[in-house]
Amino acid sequence: MTQADLTGVPETALWTLHHRAAEAARPDTVLPDPHAVQLVAELEFPFEERLGTVRPWVAQAIALRALGFDRVVRDFLALHPDGTVIALGEGLETQFWRVDNGSVRWVSVDLAGPLALRERVLPHGPRQRLIACDVRATTWLAHVDASRGVLVTAQGLLMYLQRAQAIGLLAACAGAFPGGTMVFDTVSRRFSARTRAGAKGPGGHRLPAMSWGMDASERHQLHTVHPAVTEVTDVPLPAGRGLVGYLAPRAGTLPLLRGDRPLITRLRFGADPRPGETPPPARRSAPDTHH
Ligand SMILES: C[S@@+](CC[C@H](N)C(=O)[O-])C[C@H]1O[C@@H](n2cnc3c(N)ncnc32)[C@H](O)[C@@H]1O
Repeated sequence: MTQADLTGVPETALWTLHHRAAEAARPDTVLPDPHAVQLVAELEFPFEERLGTVRPWVAQAIALRALGFDRVVRDFLALHPDGTVIALGEGLETQFWRVDNGSVRWVSVDLAGPLALRERVLPHGPRQRLIACDVRATTWLAHVDASRGVLVTAQGLLMYLQRAQAIGLLAACAGAFPGGTMVFDTVSRRFSARTRAGAKGPGGHRLPAMSWGMDASERHQLHTVHPAVTEVTDVPLPAGRGLVGYLAPRAGTLPLLRGDRPLITRLRFGADPRPGETPPPARRSAPDTHH
């Protein structure tokens, strides 16, 4: 057993893991993930006491979000089999083992505490690298080999940043990775406001404040975060099981959910930086790297 001693926002990595593992343990799961199931069994952490009860519909929704991200990664790997996936705020995500094609390079970026736990409990191999860094500092950008194509993922991360920090991060990626792709999810403005007011989640525990919320009607504005952004597209949730699984891919068309729902967004960055474009932000200090 390994003690998981995360608190505050890093603790949310245990919440998402717990939900994916609960969903993966079902015989009719939408997201098979033996590594997540095993990891929860091996961690010494009072999951229910600290993070509330797992509601099956929430577990499925979290798993469908992960499956949506998996599909974007698989699409990327079909074009760039030995490309680099940079997983920002990766926490205890076991996505690498769900999508590994045998040649992908994988970079996990997270704060020092969650990253040290990740390194202790997951079997990282030579194609995986861990960078302990606050994504707001963007120091990690200078440590990534982008020569074989880059996909940046940010699953369950940007809502914990201030809007300006999140937009700054998108712009930094657009400037640093010509020809690259980025995929991230966001919560709605209304949901963000509820968390800031101290709302409890469906499992009964208090949600950490999610500072940035974005509605579907504002998404087109992301075109302007950086001149290299050439495409802003919706990544619909995949279909799943039962009512939640039916509604998930259709949320954007349903009047009650259309304006107040979580979104997954994909940005594509143009291959050629424009003349006079600002280069990626300079390194301020070297982050801790492993592997
Ligand atoms: C909700 S968890 C998501 C973890 C994982 N991506 C998943 O989907 O299970 C949020 C993650 O973002 C990380 N995080 C939050 N703020 C961060 C920051 N400023 N820099 C780097 N990582 C951050 C947390 O430590 C945590 O691992």
